[in-house]
Amino acid sequence: MSVQKLIDHLTTQLETLKSTGLYKRERLIESPQNAEITVNGKKVINFCANNYLGLANHPEIVQSAHETLDTWGYGLSSVRFICGTQTPHRQLEQAIARFFGKEDAILYISCFDANGGLFETLLSEEDAVLSDELNHASIIDGIRLCKAKRFRYKHNDMSDLRNKLEEAKGSRFKFIFTDSVFSMDGDLAKLPEICDLADQYDAFVGIDDCHGTGHLGQGGRGAAELLGVLDRIDVITSTLGKTAGGAAGGFTTSRKEIVDWLKNRSRPYLFSNSVPPSLVGAAGKALELIQKSTSLRETLTQNTQKMRAGLEGAGFTVKLGPTPILPVMLGDAALASQMAEKLLTHGIYVIGFSYPVVPQGQARIRLQVSAAHTPSQIEQAIQAFKEVGKELGIVK
Ligand SMILES: Cc1ncc(COP(=O)(O)O)c(C=O)c1O
Repeated sequence: MSVQKLIDHLTTQLETLKSTGLYKRERLIESPQNAEITVNGKKVINFCANNYLGLANHPEIVQSAHETLDTWGYGLSSVRFICGTQTPHRQLEQAIARFFGKEDAILYISCFDANGGLFETLLSEEDAVLSDELNHASIIDGIRLCKAKRFRYKHNDMSDLRNKLEEAKGSRFKFIFTDSVFSMDGDLAKLPEICDLADQYDAFVGIDDCHGTGHLGQGGRGAAELLGVLDRIDVITSTLGKTAGGAAGGFTTSRKEIVDWLKNRSRPYLFSNSVPPSLVGAAGKALELIQKSTSLRETLTQNTQKMRAGLEGAGFTVKLGPTPILPVMLGDAALASQMAEKLLTHGIYVIGFSYPVVPQGQARIRLQVSAAHTPSQIEQAIQAFKEVGKELGIVK
């Protein structure tokens, strides 16, 4: 069969995406990642990076990346178990485990891979995995790869989770896995209740803490620390590509036997290249900065409160939640994308999200606040929201 048939099919599909407003056009950023970035030659304030503490491009992290590059080289041309493990890789894994109070950790090239290589490595036909319906795509894909029975419980619905645990009775292992922070809504998983149910049904609990690690909790140990259950969570996956420096890399931290088994059997670890040393060095520095002081987390909290108060005061509906993710609810998909376009002309870079990323009729603009934003940048954003909101008839 000629590839032209596939090309014709994709051309039609792409045209459908364009005509239904679902085609993704990527904007070219003409500067490093920061609270202020350059787009189309114009400086705009950025409210859509996962740069919660503003550590992407922090000078000490960049310096550490340079130093590790000079000392340990650019790339390893090997997976970890053949000849891709240097001293800094092990040091970072141990630092991550200590940070979360766990026994050991395993590095992956991304958290997508950490989630992709978790479930099928630990579970088989006799087991059950219970997963929140709004879990991240990488968790969904990871679970698809494993042979365990799958139970999808309604979002944060503890009575549905209990029903599913009842159904899963008799399975050898029962693994409840949830995003700790749901990135489209900014809400937290009900971790204390989930841990209680796990105790009751002899299950164990894992979380993906990508949107919590570094900036939530007193010590930055994420959503589980914030909710007081860090020691009750058995498996944590997370990323180095958001708060912890923002470049790339992921990890799983847990009991040493679990980590050891993952190092022996997890396919994205065994069959993919080692994380570059410069990333490892920089991530280690990011972890150090996260632990050194609470001041960036305090600034982030103040910035988030100021932004929420300003938007709500102007008449916008902002979903409730304790995280720096502020979903400004608009309902209509066309309105959300129109608003984002207009805000950009006011120097505010945000993105409108609509179906299928969020449910039908719940289109929104998702703001991600950073400790790097200055009070005046937050005020500028609130002012722009007021002006555009009035122009579009969203607020009075
Ligand atoms: C909840 C969640 N899990 C996993 C990932 C994947 O992380 P990484 O970028 O390290 O692959 C993301 C990133 O979008 C995420 O938001």
